Amino acid sequence: MMKATEAVAKRLGKLKPRVAIVLGSGLGFLADEVADPIRIPYRTIPGFPEPGVAGHKGELVAGKLEGVPVVVQAGRFHLYEGHPAAVAGLPARVFAELGVEVLIVTNAAGGVRRTFPGGTLMLIADHINLMWRNPLIGQPEPGEERFPIMHAPYDQELRTLAREVARDSRIPMEEGVYVALLGPSYETPSEVRMLERLGADAVGMSTVPEVLVARSRGLRCLGFSIITNPGAGITGEALSHEEVLAVSEQVARKVAVVVKGVLQRIK
Ligand code: HPA
Repeated sequence: MMKATEAVAKRLGKLKPRVAIVLGSGLGFLADEVADPIRIPYRTIPGFPEPGVAGHKGELVAGKLEGVPVVVQAGRFHLYEGHPAAVAGLPARVFAELGVEVLIVTNAAGGVRRTFPGGTLMLIADHINLMWRNPLIGQPEPGEERFPIMHAPYDQELRTLAREVARDSRIPMEEGVYVALLGPSYETPSEVRMLERLGADAVGMSTVPEVLVARSRGLRCLGFSIITNPGAGITGEALSHEEVLAVSEQVARKVAVVVKGVLQRIK
């Protein structure tokens, strides 16, 4: 067992989280909805760096959400902060060692599909890794596959549940392909056109490392992108990080409803 897992397991005591939820920007409030929370700051977990982006916290919050034992990751490690992919994937490795079965990932993203305005909620159907990095490079950790199969990275059954919850809650939800770039610069208009031709519907700078680790350990994944803005060049308007944060906070409420509905149904 990794040192990080030992430190987290010690804090959890008898709690055995079944689901891990990675919070993207705007979703921080979900950590406060965890019942009987055990808060584990990153500085107390070996190998976890302090988070660097404003608006991103740095702690794991374990407890119950909708009656399901969960661990919530409030604050993620981005490659654009200079972290190796293995560090971005470290929390997912810890979750796997703790016995977590399902990884739910959320993020903010730019819209590549032309019919995705800012404010769109997108269920991730598949991803394209254009980070040119992979957290699984090197010796496989115990329990990891050398060549993980990626034919169904986002679990079909969980996606069906998510669609049902969204429909029942009257939350409009699109579905599409997330492409991950290194960042931190946003894309140029030509890059967005290129991504469109490559088959992407949304573009962001996270999520893929976590999902690669999770799949190599057999965790089932479910992902949501909050489209905060149309990709560069689509409307001709310039975007700002402030706009990204404001829109993600609005749509995050809907994501939380869908995530909690899914938790109720996977009990
Ligand atoms: N591009 C990449 N990442 C993003 C964007 C974008 O337009 N918006 C929010 N995250």
